[in-house]
Amino acid sequence: MPNISRTGKIMPASPIRKLVPFSEKAKQEGVKVYHLNIGQPDIHTPEHALAVLKEYKGKVVEYCHSAGFESYRRALAKQYAGMGINFNYKQIMVTFGGSEGLIYVLMSTMDPGDEIIIPEPYYTNYNSYATMAGAKVVPIQSSFEDGFALPPISEFEKKITSKTRAILISNPNNPTGYLYSKEELLQIKDLALKYDLYIIADEVYRDFCYDGSTHYSMMQIEGLEQNTILIDSTSKRYSECGIRVGFVITKNQEVLDTLMKFAQARLSPPYFGQLVGMASIDTPESYFQEVREEYVKRRNCLINGLNKIPGVSSPMPKGAFYTIARLPIDDSEIFCRWMLETFRYENQTVMMAPAAGFYATPGLGKNEVRLAYVINTDDLKKALKCLEEGLKAYPGNTYNK
Ligand SMILES: Cc1ncc(COP(=O)(O)O)c(C=O)c1O
Repeated sequence: MPNISRTGKIMPASPIRKLVPFSEKAKQEGVKVYHLNIGQPDIHTPEHALAVLKEYKGKVVEYCHSAGFESYRRALAKQYAGMGINFNYKQIMVTFGGSEGLIYVLMSTMDPGDEIIIPEPYYTNYNSYATMAGAKVVPIQSSFEDGFALPPISEFEKKITSKTRAILISNPNNPTGYLYSKEELLQIKDLALKYDLYIIADEVYRDFCYDGSTHYSMMQIEGLEQNTILIDSTSKRYSECGIRVGFVITKNQEVLDTLMKFAQARLSPPYFGQLVGMASIDTPESYFQEVREEYVKRRNCLINGLNKIPGVSSPMPKGAFYTIARLPIDDSEIFCRWMLETFRYENQTVMMAPAAGFYATPGLGKNEVRLAYVINTDDLKKALKCLEEGLKAYPGNTYNK
């Protein structure tokens, strides 16, 4: 039989999806499973954006410019200027979700063996993108105790080698919900300039910041024109995960030219996705206000509920819609599987993502889970009750032992 490639063999499988067969089995048995494991929001996509699909009268669905419709890119440049992020339309590329953008950015900036520093815990797919580029993720531990703030810059400096090419931050963060401050971004700036590094700023959750806090973009930090590469997406902004439209923005012409070679090889970003994305630009501010209010309600419900369960703790996230919770258990993968396979409370259970998959350092996150508050508060309360009862019944509960 012909061989599978080395890259194919080391390409990681999704640690979040490992438990899917167990949740499917529970559902086949008629058990209600509350999904706190994935970031698929139930928020409605703006209706006026979806309307363009129904109204489409074209006769041929053509390829478009590899960087996206020029009219869309011009409209996006205007939209970002309104958010205080200035660039010209030739400095934004439309990609197949932020995911494709991240892949092309790593392919454009990293050689096999090069290193990229990422504070852990981090979005697990970064491992996959790095594997595709042959790059190595070097983790820097952020700590639960201080809500997963930026680790001290001295820790970054300890990990910098001649192979370090980039720092990647997700802001606000998936999986921790941490929102980096302007001061923290300025610390990253100094580091990037000192060691001549790219800063890949994944800001796909930038619209979800709470408690009056504002998002500060890496693109707003001056003096980093050659270093900063911004990743953004329509997926979470307008609850349009399925239209597959994201963006890469950078002022570094060499990076843009290189990205373009990858983009040209895949010809065109999605046509209908761009139509929906373009119409979405007109979404009124009231939509975002409502969505944010809903997420704040959900966040408060989940975090306050978690912190009331004996032995459970979670910091209060300031952004995105995830949190890392610490549970009174030794191994969250075993516990999450037990919840799906064995435990039932009034014929219901909860699916959570074991947090170890979000860390690169072996052993970290074993007593933690990542939870997404993408379901309504009534269901969240039921899920919390299930978790509380599950922990009470779990033979491996270490609380007060
Ligand atoms: C941190 C982060 N970055 C990037 C993405 C990619 O999103 P998309 O490809 O849908 O734009 C996601 C999706 O969940 C994410 O959580």
